[in-house]
Amino acid sequence: MDKAFNAIAQNSLGYQLTPISIRELLYIDSAPETIYGLENGLYRPLIAANKKINKDILKQLISAGHVRLFVDRKKRHLLIDMIQEKLTKVTRSLSIGDPVENGRSQMNLLTVHFEYVYGNITDDDILNKHFQFSKNLCSFLLANSEKLEKLYLEYRKQKHHFIFSQPLLASLLLLGVLKNTRVFSAKEMELLFLTSYFKDIGMSSIPVEKYDDENLSKEDKKRLVNHAETSVEILEGRVPLSPSHMEIIKNHHAFSLLNKELNHDIEIDTPQGDDNIDRPVLVGSETVLICSMDIIAAMVTPRPWREAENLFKVLDLVRVLISDDFSGEFKTIVSYFKNFKKK
Ligand SMILES: [Fe+2]
Repeated sequence: MDKAFNAIAQNSLGYQLTPISIRELLYIDSAPETIYGLENGLYRPLIAANKKINKDILKQLISAGHVRLFVDRKKRHLLIDMIQEKLTKVTRSLSIGDPVENGRSQMNLLTVHFEYVYGNITDDDILNKHFQFSKNLCSFLLANSEKLEKLYLEYRKQKHHFIFSQPLLASLLLLGVLKNTRVFSAKEMELLFLTSYFKDIGMSSIPVEKYDDENLSKEDKKRLVNHAETSVEILEGRVPLSPSHMEIIKNHHAFSLLNKELNHDIEIDTPQGDDNIDRPVLVGSETVLICSMDIIAAMVTPRPWREAENLFKVLDLVRVLISDDFSGEFKTIVSYFKNFKKK
């Protein structure tokens, strides 16, 4: 009887529960709801609602192998609300204390929140909040631009899933380059930062865990190749970016490295004029900078299928891709990274 009852209870928990990431718990002080885990294939409550959460509890969970955690689907929003409150709180106190520490917390929380955006792509409230949080981060970064490189390096160490960290890493580099040119106004830099940060949101059309697969299915590859257009479809009319910024998003793979990355066969030493490189459609300077920072941020960080690449080699690849048509932009990029290295 007990066994039968247990089986029914487990079965209903299976329907009731939804997975969360252990990372979400890193940034909250108490459990807003019961946190479940799996023990011998059965769901068990691990942390009771309202119980304090600290690093020791999380360490215990990890060492006991509880990396897959769950909450009641109906109460899932409580954890999301809590992370949003925390983000608002961190944003309000950004001017107090160490800017690198503050920036790091805000970027980590923003990345946790980015998963909510991907997982709830039609939810206007989550998207609007994320846009506002990203805008706040950009204002903070512009006000602390001398710390940009340090913040980039700190954030790179955090080991978020590359799908969620790549847009921010690329946008941090972009902001550094834009600032370095001294020709963009704060408003222009903010809009380009947001354009760069939201440009890959179309990648949410594929479940994140699939990106770790050695080989994506043909269908998923097609979705991935079309992600720039999907990003525009997701964002249009929902975020305050102008048609010209949407155009940048649409063309942010103008240099077509994506196909090569998908087939895991990027050739770093591609000789100049190689026919394998698709020449870009007509794009402007801002698109070229966003595109190049995307390539650099991606190549200098590892992926499950390849090692991180050396910055100089990546800059050489960017030279091959853009210097024929955009020599000025290439010089701008090189001059930024020269200073970056010195620092
Ligand atoms: Fe992209």
